[in-house]
Amino acid sequence: MNDLKKKIYDLMLKNRRVAGGHQYTVPSPETYPYQWFWDSCFHAIILSHLSPGDAKLELLSLISKQFDNGMIPHMIYWDKQTPKDFPVIEWGKEDTSTITQPPLLSIAALRIYQQDQDERSSSTSKEFLEQIYTAAGKFCKYLLTERDPDGQDLAGLINPDESGEDNSPRFDAALGLPPKHTTQENFQKRLQLIEENKKCNFDAAFCTINFFSVKDVPFNCILVEELKAQAKIASILGKKKDARFFKKRAQDICSAMRTLMLEDGIFWPTIGKDCKKIKTLTWAIFAPLFAGIPTKKEAENLVKNHLQNIDRFNLKYLVPTVSKDDPAFDPDNFWRGPVWMAPNWFVFWGLKKYGFDALAQKILDSSVNLLEKEGFREYYNPLTGKGLGAKNFTWGGLVLDMF
Ligand code: GLC
Repeated sequence: MNDLKKKIYDLMLKNRRVAGGHQYTVPSPETYPYQWFWDSCFHAIILSHLSPGDAKLELLSLISKQFDNGMIPHMIYWDKQTPKDFPVIEWGKEDTSTITQPPLLSIAALRIYQQDQDERSSSTSKEFLEQIYTAAGKFCKYLLTERDPDGQDLAGLINPDESGEDNSPRFDAALGLPPKHTTQENFQKRLQLIEENKKCNFDAAFCTINFFSVKDVPFNCILVEELKAQAKIASILGKKKDARFFKKRAQDICSAMRTLMLEDGIFWPTIGKDCKKIKTLTWAIFAPLFAGIPTKKEAENLVKNHLQNIDRFNLKYLVPTVSKDDPAFDPDNFWRGPVWMAPNWFVFWGLKKYGFDALAQKILDSSVNLLEKEGFREYYNPLTGKGLGAKNFTWGGLVLDMF
C-alpha cells in the first residue's frame, strides 16, 4: 500500500501545473493537458489523503471560472497548447468550454474538510468550505432551474460529454446511432451538437428541447449527493435554513427518479419531455446506490441479478462500464465496456452504503490489481485487464479513498 501511495503521489506531482495564477492537475500530460471539472474533483479527493492544502487549490482553481449564471465549465484552458492527440474543439469561448460535468464540488470539499480537522487550521478550513459552498450552491441552483425547463425535478444534459462518459451507449438513441458504430461517427454527432448549441448560445432550455434531451442517472445521483453535501456544509457553517433547502431539493430529485426513471427494479436514463426510458444496461444502474436511493430489497436485487451475474457485470476485472450481454458491449472501446476507476469509486461507496462490504472489497482489489499489472491507464479491458487509452492517467489514485 505504501508503495502504491507513493506512486500515486508521484503521479499527482508529475501532472501538477501552475498557470494563470492557479494550481491544478492535468488528467494525463500527453492526452489531456488541460483542467477538467470532474477530474479535478477526483484529484481533490485523492489529494485530500496526501496534501489537503493542494486539494483545496485544485477546487479553488475550478470555481474561479464559474459563469455568471452559475454554470461551471467542464474544461479550462489555463495553458492553451494544442496536444498532438487532443482535437481542437470550438466551444464559442476562448478560455473554457461551454458545457459542464457532474457536480462533485461539495462532495470533494467535505472529504478535504474531514481530513483537515486539526484545531490550528479549522478557521481556514471553514473559510475554504464557505468559498466552495457559495460556488457549489450557485451551480446546484443553475442545474435545478435552467437544466430543468419542464419542472420535473431532474437535471438534463445538453451533450453526452456532460455525463463524463462521452460515448456511452446510454446516449446512442438520443444521438440517432445504432448500438454498433465507429468512434468517429460518435464523435461527429457530438461535435454537431456543439455546433447546434453554439447557435442558440447554449441556452439550456432551448437546447434540451430542440437538440438533445437526456436526463441521466449518474448525473442526477451525483447531484443528490452534492445537495446533501451542501446541506452538511450549511449545518457546519450554521446556516440552518439553507441546510433544509438543500436537503429538500435532494429529496425532490430522489422522488422524481422513483416516479420517472424506475422500472423493473432499475433506474433508467430518460429521453425527451415525456421521459421515455433508455434501456441500455450500463454501470449507471448501480449509481443510485451511491446516493442511497434504492430500498434495501431493490439494492439486493441489483447486486444479485446484475453485479454478480457472470453474463452481465461480473467479469474477470470489475466493474465493466457496459453489461457483457448488451448489444453495445465492446471491451476495448472507451465508455462502451472497459473498466474505469471513477465508476469503480462510485460503485464501491454505493455498496458500502448498503453493507455489501465484501463486494466493495472485491472492487477495490480488482482496481489495485489493474494498477499493479498495467499501471495508471485511462481504462482497462474487463476480460483481459489490458490497460488502454491515455497513459499516466490520474483516476487510479481514487483507490486511496477506498482503503
Ligand atoms: C475523457 C473522459 C472524461 C474526462 C476527460 C479528461 O473525455 O470521458 O470523463 O473528464 O477525458 O480526463
